[in-house]
Amino acid sequence: MPDIKYTWQDDSPFLDERLQSYSKSGCYPFHMPGHKRAPIEFPNPYSVDITEIDRFDNLYHADGILKEAQQRAAELFGAKETFFLVNGSTAGILSAISAALPRLSTLLMARNSHKSAYHAVYLRGLETVYLLPAATEFGISGSISPAHVAQALDDLPQIGAVFITSPTYDGVTSDIRTIAEIAHAYDLPLIVDEAHGAHFAISEEFPESALECGADLVIQSLHKTLPCLTQTALLHVNSERIDRNALEYFLSIYQTSSPSYLLMASIEQCIRFLNEEKEEQLAKYIPQLKNFYQQTKSLKHLKVFEKDSCQPETCFDHDISKILISVGDSELTGQKLYRKLLHNYYLQLEMCSGHYVTALTSLMDTPEGFARLLHGLKEIDDEISLAAPRPTARPAILGSRTPNRSRHLTSNDIYQPPKPQMPIALAMEQPAEPLSLKASTGHISQEFIYLYPPGIPLVTPGEILTGKIIGIVDQCQKLGLTVEGLSDRSRQTIKVVKI
Ligand SMILES: Cc1ncc(COP(=O)(O)O)c(C=O)c1O
Repeated sequence: MPDIKYTWQDDSPFLDERLQSYSKSGCYPFHMPGHKRAPIEFPNPYSVDITEIDRFDNLYHADGILKEAQQRAAELFGAKETFFLVNGSTAGILSAISAALPRLSTLLMARNSHKSAYHAVYLRGLETVYLLPAATEFGISGSISPAHVAQALDDLPQIGAVFITSPTYDGVTSDIRTIAEIAHAYDLPLIVDEAHGAHFAISEEFPESALECGADLVIQSLHKTLPCLTQTALLHVNSERIDRNALEYFLSIYQTSSPSYLLMASIEQCIRFLNEEKEEQLAKYIPQLKNFYQQTKSLKHLKVFEKDSCQPETCFDHDISKILISVGDSELTGQKLYRKLLHNYYLQLEMCSGHYVTALTSLMDTPEGFARLLHGLKEIDDEISLAAPRPTARPAILGSRTPNRSRHLTSNDIYQPPKPQMPIALAMEQPAEPLSLKASTGHISQEFIYLYPPGIPLVTPGEILTGKIIGIVDQCQKLGLTVEGLSDRSRQTIKVVKI
């Protein structure tokens, strides 16, 4: 193991100083952005920071240098047309949903969608019909079943578009090819939030990309998994089922009127890097990743997620670049494992849940990073054995066909939508009153409740609060998970619709 020099003792109140100190600290980033602070050559940001001026084209009516740059992106990813996004996938999702179906119509959407999809629902006054992801044996949300899509479209002729998140934040994908065929049989567009899968197109080691599978609109965050600056993303158009002029118009509504050329230059640089260097980088990255999975098979307590541990119908495919490490049969929680890796091994992971942590990798990761993570996990695993030797270690979650009986709070427990009473926009615009969370049972929520990350709602406005869901929120808070959405910063009260 390299001798790690960790020097981040900075308590500067100034953001720029704190950022520089973190960057030099020796803490290894298993988190976004995907460039992993690699030494990518880029001019001094101030020397090239402009927005739209002569000879630099216009993002929302591109017909010069930006149009050509967007065409190069479309070629690389295999789209008919591609739009650069400077406000993240968030802006792409808002625009895609807004352009795909008229106001006040009905969207068939995966319940485990990012809050931006729910915000589009709110802004456009849409009604929602939810597709629930399968419950996996690992305790994370699984795939959306094509059969459920077919059933919903068969039952509900008012549905105007289908929205699926694939991959999820955990890397689980759905069978987009079949879902696209089903949606198209009803002449409906399929929008895929592929925010976490921009890298799929660059290697066959990753799941197939939604564009290859025939989705109509695909949104990808470059910054999450590729070497590109934060906020950079792409919206790909793959068919004529959605009016591209409407799309462009909505992009100009939801995005800044002063698009950053720094961000767009970073996208251009990323595309060029992938075109020129992806083979060389992948030849280093993929063997390291596979070696990591191989080496962690010998862990006795901690368990690294592999899709083979799930039934194919619960996990269609999994993106190996997202490493999920479960606390297994140990006494640890996700939060404790996350903190150990940070404080004892200087590894900053992407996130933790009640029973697992996520390390995001990309083709910019180094052998040192993988070695440090492996070393940390092996030592922690050995410590667990010393503390409580268990001769017949049996994973608490993996391999169990009844995931909800685990002692951990899993995604399967957390994401069980309460009964809807009214559409999101209607509930958000009713008179409301704050009630203590405990007293809110039986009332209609006017607020979202999310865990962040990943920003997927436990409750949406218009749903009836139950004792069970309030209990889950309470448990999440006790586990140290970040509960967001409530306007009360102390998270003691929730606004409910006044009847
Ligand atoms: C599934 C999913 N979709 C969309 C987004 C939004 O992406 P961005 O941060 O690029 O706006 C996120 C953000 O974390 C996400 O997890």
